[in-house]
Amino acid sequence: MAGAMAIIIDGKAAAAGLRQGLASEVRAIEAAGGPVPGLRVVIVGDHPASRTYVRTKTKVAQEIGIDGALVELPATVTTAELLAVVGELNDDPTTHGILVQLPLPAQVDAARILAAIDPAKDVDGFHPLNVGRLFASSRPSAEVLLVPCTPLGCMHLLAGVHGPGGLSGAHAVVLGRSNIVGKPMAALLLGADCTVTVAHSKTRDLAGLCRSADVLVAAVGRPRLVQGDWLKPGATVLDVGINRVEGLGLVGDVDFEAAVAVAGAITPVPGGVGPMTVASLMRNTLTAYRLQVGALA
Ligand code: GUN
Repeated sequence: MAGAMAIIIDGKAAAAGLRQGLASEVRAIEAAGGPVPGLRVVIVGDHPASRTYVRTKTKVAQEIGIDGALVELPATVTTAELLAVVGELNDDPTTHGILVQLPLPAQVDAARILAAIDPAKDVDGFHPLNVGRLFASSRPSAEVLLVPCTPLGCMHLLAGVHGPGGLSGAHAVVLGRSNIVGKPMAALLLGADCTVTVAHSKTRDLAGLCRSADVLVAAVGRPRLVQGDWLKPGATVLDVGINRVEGLGLVGDVDFEAAVAVAGAITPVPGGVGPMTVASLMRNTLTAYRLQVGALA
């Protein structure tokens, strides 16, 4: 007999709910006579996926009343030129959030760029000061901290499935150790009292490890790596992967068709984690705004 189908976590609906709340926060700011929250998204070169992502970010910003705009720079930009752009945005009082889309071309020193962003405007949470604050906090809170957007969105979805305090004691396995997802995800899960294992390409017996996970977050960028029989029955699975595969279109890091028959809850690709990342960026823009302007409403 086949097991029960997993709950399919509707990231689109969750993100729409979050955006609605943020839109009303922006209206309250407006009503209180505060300056319009401003987000600047810096894009270097014409990597097609990156261009799609940044257009979505500025469009969603506009939809909820944030002044979102792209700053477009050629693929040949130097570190010094990009530092100058970041410096101008740091000094611009109409810019409350700055995001420099990654990856940057090889000639640019990405670590220097990220460290040059004003930590109060760092809506990605990638500045070393914000990374340090996240890892030093026993109960990291996105009300006061700028937390990387994808992990923040993942925690929102997990809270919807498990409820307040519902992750306590769970074994969470994070596949991937990137600064954008894996490492900050581990910090947030620890803050929710999970026992956390961070796995990567050198991890032994990945399948066996995944089978011990109550919560599995896949963020490795390998299409359909995670098989159905890698999952503990009833596990919650968040698929962060967005892989474009010839003939298949967009697929995640999890074999969704197989996993949905084993998991307790699972995010689809697309329509799972992706929309939450963008909504979380808007949330961070309003957090950054409050850090700079103060609470107006
Ligand atoms: N590239 C892929 N994901 C991200 C992200 O969350 N922020 C930035 N700045 N670049 C990315």
